[in-house]
Formats: sequence, structure tokens, C-alpha cells
Amino acid sequence: MKEIHAPLKESLIRRYPEPVIRQFAKDLALGLGASDEEADVISDGITTASLWWHPGQGQGLEKFFRYYRRVRNGGYVPRARLTWVAEGPAYALLEANKAFGYHAANTAMRRAIDLAGRAGIGIVGVRNSNHFGIAGYHAKTAAEAGFIGIAMTNAKAEMAPWGAKTAVLGTNPWGWAVPRRGAYPIILDMALTMSGIGMIAWAHREGRQVPDDLALTADGRRTTNPAELLEGSTQLPIGRAKGYGLSFMTDVLTGVLMGAKFGLSVFQDDTHFDVGHVMIAVKIDAFMPRDRFFDRLEQLVAEVKAAAPITPGDEILLPGEAEQRRMQERLAHGIPVDAETVEKLRPIAADLGVPFPL
Ligand SMILES: NC(=O)c1ccc[n+]([C@@H]2O[C@H](COP(=O)([O-])OP(=O)(O)OC[C@H]3O[C@@H](n4cnc5c(N)ncnc54)[C@H](O)[C@@H]3O)[C@@H](O)[C@H]2O)c1
Repeated sequence: MKEIHAPLKESLIRRYPEPVIRQFAKDLALGLGASDEEADVISDGITTASLWWHPGQGQGLEKFFRYYRRVRNGGYVPRARLTWVAEGPAYALLEANKAFGYHAANTAMRRAIDLAGRAGIGIVGVRNSNHFGIAGYHAKTAAEAGFIGIAMTNAKAEMAPWGAKTAVLGTNPWGWAVPRRGAYPIILDMALTMSGIGMIAWAHREGRQVPDDLALTADGRRTTNPAELLEGSTQLPIGRAKGYGLSFMTDVLTGVLMGAKFGLSVFQDDTHFDVGHVMIAVKIDAFMPRDRFFDRLEQLVAEVKAAAPITPGDEILLPGEAEQRRMQERLAHGIPVDAETVEKLRPIAADLGVPFPL
């Protein structure tokens, strides 16, 4: 299999068994004042992210740096009351009251699944939430219940509109998950930008150049030198103007329509984020018998897998297949954590009175 990211430099990471990461994430969340239910979702999301992604993508234990800071200054509210502010046969809107984003998004996707079970489709918006973690985790919740799931969120302005050099839109990730007969769901989980500042910073630490289509310098230039991108850069969209268009429309759905912040205002200070999300669940058997759907899906998978590779011997991957392989490897050999993250978590755990297992 061709790895998407450069191989991890073992000198920059430490590896830990999955149960250690899972328990530590739960203990940290409880230490911050989360309920048991909130802590379980946060821990499951962060463990899943750590199994799937490169530490430079910043979706693992490093999320606790911001949780720790923002719970203290009121940007995140543990045990926040979640309130339904609109509802109908196939839709609902959740006021998250600054809850942990993982918990608010999970509550919304569970409601979307419930609505779809009865109406064929469920679409649930969330406003006044926080960073929801990885989009694929929320989409996977629907697939595990037998539904097709779609999750999206807006995020801090990091992407310039196509042709501009100042950021207005977020990386605004999408997760799509499709259940599969007798196999792990097929999960597309992607930001709408080519990369993120974390992976650019990681390349800089490793002394590597980056492709020149990841980001623009503050003065709007392309470069392969990551050092020029660490301050004031803007992330370039996937698919040029089309990725910018997807990000714009995602902000319309998640921010403008759901009553959350959008554009330049979302996610800009440490005390009030008001992030918006949209969760969609689709009932397969509203459209065709499940068995027939699964037969047809496997036919599509077989056709994709049989496509002629450009380089003889290369394997053609499904969306999410690389993450699944990485997950298996990490369950067997340990989850990588950035060595710098380990040291920065030590005082946080001590302050929260949480055992430090790393
Ligand atoms: N909550 C937020 O604000 C936020 C913002 C940005 C990203 N994220 C999360 O960060 C994570 C990483 O996102 P990303 O865009 O950096 O991921 P990525 O670029 O590493 O991968 C994106 C997708 O492309 C697929 N893919 C890549 N190469 C492939 C190949 N050769 N064949 C088939 N499929 C292939 C992957 O399986 C994955 O589904 C995601 O979980 C995303 O949801 C969250």
C-alpha cells in the first residue's frame, strides 16, 4: 500500500497500547469536569483519531491542550445543557450551549439516525458548539447503526477564497460513511483544504520541503519551504476553486443556516466559539432493499479495486482504507504520540489530579 503521509520518524514519537490512550483520554476529560457520558464519547473520538491519523494532523491527545485552556476560560462548558430548539419529521436543531463538540455532534447524529429510521432521512443542525473532532467519527456512528452518514462542520478561518490571500473560510471537514456487508464501513474523512498547519509544521521539524500547493505565504506566494508558511499563511483548498466553493457552501449550511458563527467570526477567541455542525443520516431501505444495496456496493468496490494502477503492482485504495490499515497496525504495535505532546500533557494531568500513564 502506498502511504499517504511520509513515514513517521520514530525519534519524534512514543508508542502506547490503545487501552492506555483510551483510559488516559477518559481520565483527562473527567478531570476537566465532563460527565461519564461526555468523557466516553471524547475518549472514543480521540482514540479513533489517534488510530487513524498522523500525530501532525493534531487530532489525538493534543486536543486536550485546548480543552484544558478553554474549559478554564469558559469557552467549553462541561455538562452543558443541550436544548432542542427546532424539530420536525426529518430535522432538528440543537443549541449546544458551549458543550464539548464531540458530545454535541454525537447527540445530533444519534437524533439524525432516529429521525431517519422513521422518515427515511434525518438532518440535524448544531449551533453554539465547539470543535467536534474528526468528521469521520460522527459519520461512522451512523454507519454502525446501518445508515449512510454525513457529518460536516465549520471551523476557524484558515482558507482564502480562491484568488485571495487572506483567510475567510475554514478547513470545514466532511465525513461520509457507508456501511458494508460483513466489513468495516467505507469512510471518507477529509478537510476541504489540501493540508493543515500542523502537517506543515511537522514537515518543518523533520527538515522536509512541502509540495507548493498546500498553502500560500502571508503575501500570497506558493513555496515549498515550510518555514515560510508557519506564520500568517492561508491553506489552499482541495480542487482549486471547487474546494473553495465546497467550503463556502459548508459554511452556509453549518454556520449561516444553523444560526452559528460563520466566516471570519467563527472560532476566533478562546471564550466563545459558536461552531456549527450538520449531521445527516440516510436509511438505505427507504430507497432499496438492504441486500440489493450491499450487492451493488460490492460490485462498485470490485470495479474500483480492479482499476489498472498507473504504477504496476500499486494497490488502489477505497476512501478510508489507509486509515483502517493504520488502525490495525497501531492496535498491534501501539499508537504513536508526538514526544513533545507527551511532555506538555504531564503538567496538565498533574494539575487535574489524573494519573499519568505515558
Ligand atoms: N473539526 C475540525 O475543525 C477539523 C478540521 C480539519 C480536519 N479535521 C479532521 O482531520 C482529519 C484529517 O483530515 P485530512 O483532510 O487531513 O485527511 P487526509 O488528507 O489524510 O485524508 C483525506 C481522505 O482522503 C482519503 N485518501 C487519501 N489518499 C487516498 C488514496 N490514495 N486512495 C484513497 N483514499 C485516499 C483518506 O482515506 C481520507 O478519507 C479528518 O478526520 C478530519 O475530519 C477536523
